[in-house]
Amino acid sequence: MSSFKALRVYEADKGVDPRVESMAVDALSEGAVLIRSAWSGINFKDAMAVTGKGRIVRKFPLNAGIDVSGTVETSEDPRFRPGDPVVVTGCGLGENHDGGFAEMVRVPGDWVVPLQDPLDLRTAMAVGTAGFTAAMALVRMETNGQQPEHGPILINGATGGVGSYAIRLFSRAGYSVTALTGKPDAADYLKSLGADEVLDSNTLEFGTRPMEKGLWGGAVDSLGDESLAWLTRTVKPWGNIAAVGLAQGIALNTTVMPFIIRGVSLLGIDSVLCHRDIRLATWKRLAELLQPGDVDAIVTREVSLDGVVEAAEALMERRQQGRTLVKLAQA
Ligand SMILES: NC(=O)c1ccc[n+]([C@@H]2O[C@H](COP(=O)([O-])OP(=O)(O)OC[C@H]3O[C@@H](n4cnc5c(N)ncnc54)[C@H](OP(=O)(O)O)[C@@H]3O)[C@@H](O)[C@H]2O)c1
Repeated sequence: MSSFKALRVYEADKGVDPRVESMAVDALSEGAVLIRSAWSGINFKDAMAVTGKGRIVRKFPLNAGIDVSGTVETSEDPRFRPGDPVVVTGCGLGENHDGGFAEMVRVPGDWVVPLQDPLDLRTAMAVGTAGFTAAMALVRMETNGQQPEHGPILINGATGGVGSYAIRLFSRAGYSVTALTGKPDAADYLKSLGADEVLDSNTLEFGTRPMEKGLWGGAVDSLGDESLAWLTRTVKPWGNIAAVGLAQGIALNTTVMPFIIRGVSLLGIDSVLCHRDIRLATWKRLAELLQPGDVDAIVTREVSLDGVVEAAEALMERRQQGRTLVKLAQA
């Protein structure tokens, strides 16, 4: 394919100007592995990038899209051969390196993850950065000793992308899961993903003591601020908390007491620039726990490159529930 289509984001006077246009492989950001894209997905970060509502794109013009799956077209890296199914998430894709909203993507070999059965190219992008981040929380917590018999895992921001995948993955891994949500009418959806119990965050009493009664074996936090502080005070001895997000805020006002009296661990999750061994272990765990049919409830929409900007606007305006996939392969 000498020329191909891409959603290229240009800098504009007020924000950004995204254009679907033809480009040549030679014009792509450099890398040893050229991938023929099959699917991408629209994350909140992508929506901010193509609508200009957040400073995600660091270099203009740039193909947007922080995730992509596809097959290797050519590789100067001996670890990959033409035809290999692969996935790339994060690593600066769509931020400072031409990203996944394009029919071709060229990246360094260290970013490329071989896809493992039973995950296929579409399922991998249904997972995308949200599912990968939730799985990394599971891997890091298990590496730090988390086990199902330590007690239920509290997952907040439950109806969000990370929360939904965390519920499914922890429940598949044998944990009892308590979902905490501001949308109690989503209880049936959360239970269908694997939640054993659903709590309404609107009625939650946070308490004020440095340590409250230990309730959770561990927790996955998408919110930060008061919600994360409450988790440090209510996780049982030797429990792990994966700090994933900041949907509520960036503050963390707590004390050292849970850490030095209960041995609680706060584990940082960075899906963008994580070490390759953690990246590979995380995709391995995803392949162990997920079946392609598992994503049917989470993927609600498919668009072509031409539909990305409208779908991104819908996401920013909260008109879109569930994940939107971007179909890139010319069938
Ligand atoms: N560390 C990483 O590498 C990484 C990777 C991906 C995402 N993230 C971050 O993780 C967080 C979750 O990502 P996501 O993709 O799941 O986002 P999302 O789909 O927008 O979901 C966030 C969820 O949090 C809850 N929420 C939103 N605003 C809130 C508020 N002001 N106060 C309390 N709860 C609120 C809502 O769930 P309920 O209504 O069910 O409560 C919402 O569905 C974000 O902050 C994102 O930036 C980090």
